[in-house]
Amino acid sequence: MRVLVCGGAGFIGSHACVALIAQGHEVVIYDNLSHGTTSAVDHISQLSGVDVRFVQGDIRDRTALEAVLSMGFDAVIHFAALKIMSESCRFPLLYFDNNVAGTIALLQAMQATGVQRLVFSSSAAVYGDPDAVPIKEDAPLRACNPYSHSKLVMERLIEEVCEARPSFSAAILRYFNPAGAHPSGLMGEDPCGVPTNLMPYVSQVAAGLQDRLHVFGDDYPTRDGTGVRDYIHVMDLADAHTKALELLRQGGCHVLNLGTGRGYSVLEVVSAFEQVSGCRIPFEIVERRPGDVAEVWADPSRAEQTLGWHAQYDLVRMCADAWRWQSMHPNGYQSAQVIELRPAAPSGGLH
Ligand code: NAD
Ligand code: WQD
Repeated sequence: MRVLVCGGAGFIGSHACVALIAQGHEVVIYDNLSHGTTSAVDHISQLSGVDVRFVQGDIRDRTALEAVLSMGFDAVIHFAALKIMSESCRFPLLYFDNNVAGTIALLQAMQATGVQRLVFSSSAAVYGDPDAVPIKEDAPLRACNPYSHSKLVMERLIEEVCEARPSFSAAILRYFNPAGAHPSGLMGEDPCGVPTNLMPYVSQVAAGLQDRLHVFGDDYPTRDGTGVRDYIHVMDLADAHTKALELLRQGGCHVLNLGTGRGYSVLEVVSAFEQVSGCRIPFEIVERRPGDVAEVWADPSRAEQTLGWHAQYDLVRMCADAWRWQSMHPNGYQSAQVIELRPAAPSGGLH
């Protein structure tokens, strides 16, 4: 298929592009570079052996999107969103504008150009504080902050379009806690500053960029008192996107959890990271982080049945790949000296 990957210059999108190209799909990346980087696009090209085309543009710019989509696409994968919960509480309008208004413009542009298939990045954040784990897709949806609320509204918009237009099909993929990096060490998560998520923070402590990890609470009702999450390797997520595209050949609107079905505590992540890196991770127990919950992990059985997909990689492999990326790129893509980088394309142009 010919696939427009919105947000393809970011963490998960860049890994998905490599998987898509490996499966024989043609990708064009559309990204406003608010968080992504053209270095990621260059690394996708290097890893794939294909000169990946990139358009710098914003998904809220419907005219620009229509111009690109009218070149003929079979599907869109929509990664383009702002994703930091704490930031969303400070800037709710920014989050609703970028995420929700952006999704409306994208759906309108797809309708205007006759593109009928959409794979959408949703989040386990839509479950809020779950009543029970593992979480199934039909569990109650509880948005607890503007970010997760924006994801819920985006999901609903997509479902409404599917209902109104039977020829339109969508896969709404609820990721649990993405982690790890490409096994080459050429691509990974670039938090652009101090990370808010656990795995990149632990990586930076191991690399000496942060002096210690702050563990947010050790009094949760979990096996060691720290929060438990379902970490999922980004390459497993990438693989699920290629399978979701195939599923959409059959039509329909599918909501699927993408997780491993297994939870690890903060201290278990620290221990696994120490094991693979050989570095000590100093940590300090501090207050709970507002909005955090005790335990979140997926029931991924629907994805197994519908996509024939399940996660291949375990926590040790996630830590090993994250550490390779961190070691090769101590300051993210800024410090990428491993390949020759191309200059960014002019706004709106293909290269
Ligand atoms: P990321 O920030 O690395 O990538 C998002 C990309 O989208 C960036 O390259 C950014 O420049 C681009 N973008 C943002 N707004 C845009 C806009 N208006 N127009 C064009 N491009 C825009 O984030 P990621 O971790 O790769 O996340 C990808 C998707 O997965 C997001 O939708 C996020 O909400 C979702 N998600 C992420 C996680 C996670 O922990 N990483 C978990 C669950 C869901
Ligand atoms: C994991 C655990 C923290 C940092 C969020 C969203 C989720 C998805 C991923 C977007 C928790 C603890 C963390 C630190 C810590 N994003 N922690 N010290 O909060 O589970 O998930 O990001 O959709 O939807 O909800 O991920 O990596 O921030 O935290 O102790 O410096 O690590 O308390 O128990 P979270 P996280």
